[in-house]
Amino acid sequence: MLNFTYHNPVKIIFGGHTLRELRKLIPQNKKILLTYGGGSIKKNGVYDKITKILKNYQVIEFGGIESNPQYETLMKAVALAKKEAVDFLLPVGGGSVLDGTKFIAAATKFKGEDPWDIIAKKAPVEEAIPLGAVITLPATGSEMNGYAVISRASTEEKLAFGSPLCYPQFSILDPESTFSLPERQVSNGIVDSFVHVMEQYMTVREGAPLQDRQAEAILMTLIEEAGKVKINPDDYTVRANLMWCACQALNGLIGCGVPQDWATHMIGHELTALYGLDHGQTLAVVLPAVLKHQKENKLDKLCHYAEKVWGVQKGTDREKADIAIEKTKDFFEVLGMKTSLSAYGISSEKFETIASRFDERNMFLGEKQNIGRKEVMEILKLCL
Ligand code: NZQ
Ligand code: ZN
Repeated sequence: MLNFTYHNPVKIIFGGHTLRELRKLIPQNKKILLTYGGGSIKKNGVYDKITKILKNYQVIEFGGIESNPQYETLMKAVALAKKEAVDFLLPVGGGSVLDGTKFIAAATKFKGEDPWDIIAKKAPVEEAIPLGAVITLPATGSEMNGYAVISRASTEEKLAFGSPLCYPQFSILDPESTFSLPERQVSNGIVDSFVHVMEQYMTVREGAPLQDRQAEAILMTLIEEAGKVKINPDDYTVRANLMWCACQALNGLIGCGVPQDWATHMIGHELTALYGLDHGQTLAVVLPAVLKHQKENKLDKLCHYAEKVWGVQKGTDREKADIAIEKTKDFFEVLGMKTSLSAYGISSEKFETIASRFDERNMFLGEKQNIGRKEVMEILKLCL
């Protein structure tokens, strides 16, 4: 097992009717900036509940944070937070609202010239406005991690940053708030959670059976609950399990002491930046292609995954690996996700641009850092 330090300071409040806890969680003397997205929280009643609960607080609002939150939009919120001397941020919504607000937290306090440097140049975050979150879409794990992924329309970039100062102090996870999700977002969320686990699990065996079994538990639960949510979307227990899986998939625990990959995410981010696909949509296309391309490197773990997660007991290691890749792809398809770029009408036109971006960043992907420009091109071709 590799060495690691694990510290996760996020207090999780989980369950129905937990929004009222906000009063205990946020000190009364705080000036709060409530941030949200395109209006889902107004339609599903979450906004009304929160504004009622916080009626004795000083609350100002910033709405309109879009999916794949845009730097240009977020800088408007930074200006507002500065002008109003806000001292607490409360994002309410999906991962995009949470991520965008983590950036607002860091950028408002940034002493350098250009806050984009936090993302593009990894300029250190030395101070940030404290935040607490209400997550309404199980997918990203942003509710229990210090990461954010920010997009910039003018340069067609989508890049991640992270800081210990960007962990929410608390996150409220009320499964009831997810009943209003469109099916597409439910599926996106399941795929995102699944792939977060795979990025930390589908590498090489590292003498970490506990982490392997924790990862397999999340994968198998996601597969089970995905089947149920399609049939019974109003089942609280199913929604609760999906929400807890998403949170556990990227709160750092299963990644302790094991090698990690993240090639699928890195390539996926470029596909969102250049073609506008949803985050989950990119992952459903790229993961099977990465697994095919890296089959020999990952053979031992693919075989283990085939046996433990998909119950494949017969065949050679290579046959088991192939079956596991096909089963993964089928799982995504059954969820209604497309698993090829051509199904989205996307051709190879921008592949060179994508591959050369990794070159420019001098970035090698995969647990063995063996995926460079040439391999990214090969993987993209497998995505067609
Ligand atoms: O904008 P509103 O109106 O709120 O609607 C959203 C949006 O249209 C809607 N939605 C959210 N909760 C809802 C709801 N609609 C009905 N009922 C609800 N309860 O869903 C749509 C998608 O929301 P979004 O926040 O964009 O989705 P998601 O949570 O999947 O977040 C995606 C973003 O997170 C980043 C992705 O790259 C992408 O930018 N990621 C963040 C990570 C992290 N912080 O650790 C890791 C992930 O790998 C991921 O990269
Ligand atoms: Zn993701």
